[in-house]
Amino acid sequence: MKKTTKEYIFENKDLGKYEFTLDTSTFEPTQTTVSIIHSSLPLINCDSKILDLGCGCGIVSIILSKLIKKNLHFFASDISESVEEIVQKNAMRHNVNIVVKRSNIFEAWSNQKFDLIINDISGVSDKVAEISPWFNNIACETGPGGDILVKRVINESTKHLKKGGKLVFPIISFSNEDEIIDSASKVFSSVKLLRKDFWPTPKEMHDHLPLLNTLKQSGLISFEEKFGTIIGHTSVFEASL
Ligand SMILES: C[S@@+](CC[C@H](N)C(=O)[O-])C[C@H]1O[C@@H](n2cnc3c(N)ncnc32)[C@H](O)[C@@H]1O
Repeated sequence: MKKTTKEYIFENKDLGKYEFTLDTSTFEPTQTTVSIIHSSLPLINCDSKILDLGCGCGIVSIILSKLIKKNLHFFASDISESVEEIVQKNAMRHNVNIVVKRSNIFEAWSNQKFDLIINDISGVSDKVAEISPWFNNIACETGPGGDILVKRVINESTKHLKKGGKLVFPIISFSNEDEIIDSASKVFSSVKLLRKDFWPTPKEMHDHLPLLNTLKQSGLISFEEKFGTIIGHTSVFEASL
């Protein structure tokens, strides 16, 4: 059955204004999207083969393609059932080429290697996902520490990186940051923080402060309470073998 679509306008003073089509199973971009795009921009070289993992509507590949006028090769995947249709539609709208596949993590990319893997597969605690507005209809089988899928990406990415290749991945404060950094440090010889951005948490989540505090006390997530709001952050890392 055809899903209802909607138009989404993305606007950022440095990156520009873009329109995308989303449907009810497409993730709506957030501050983490912006952090990832900014972090990836300086890492892309001429002829780079790039995989956008957990691509949602294709926003990361599309904006990078538009901003970097080089001969790039974009590949994108997501577990969302309509990803191929939605990303192709958005790529055509913006006149860029993306090879898109529906895939659980790397499943559809066996034997393929990339210069840059940009991971944005769901990475917040599943307990937080339940009370957030971000994951209605969106897969988030991440466990209470939010680290299950990210750790799989970290471990499996070694098979999909070319020599000298890099993995870019965000860690969101609503996940077990220490556990994820520890996993990455075991696999990669270099794990470097590229940027850290703070953002106010959506209002819907404020009613769930007792749950958030319990998860924080267990060391599974972190956040700050400041200026009468809950502040989360996204840290973006670059890892190389
Ligand atoms: C935080 S969203 C990012 C979407 C997009 N990059 C953006 O910035 O708008 C996470 C994405 O990971 C996808 N996802 C969740 N589990 C997945 C899995 N096992 N394999 C592939 N993608 C997955 C979700 O469908 C969702 O689109």
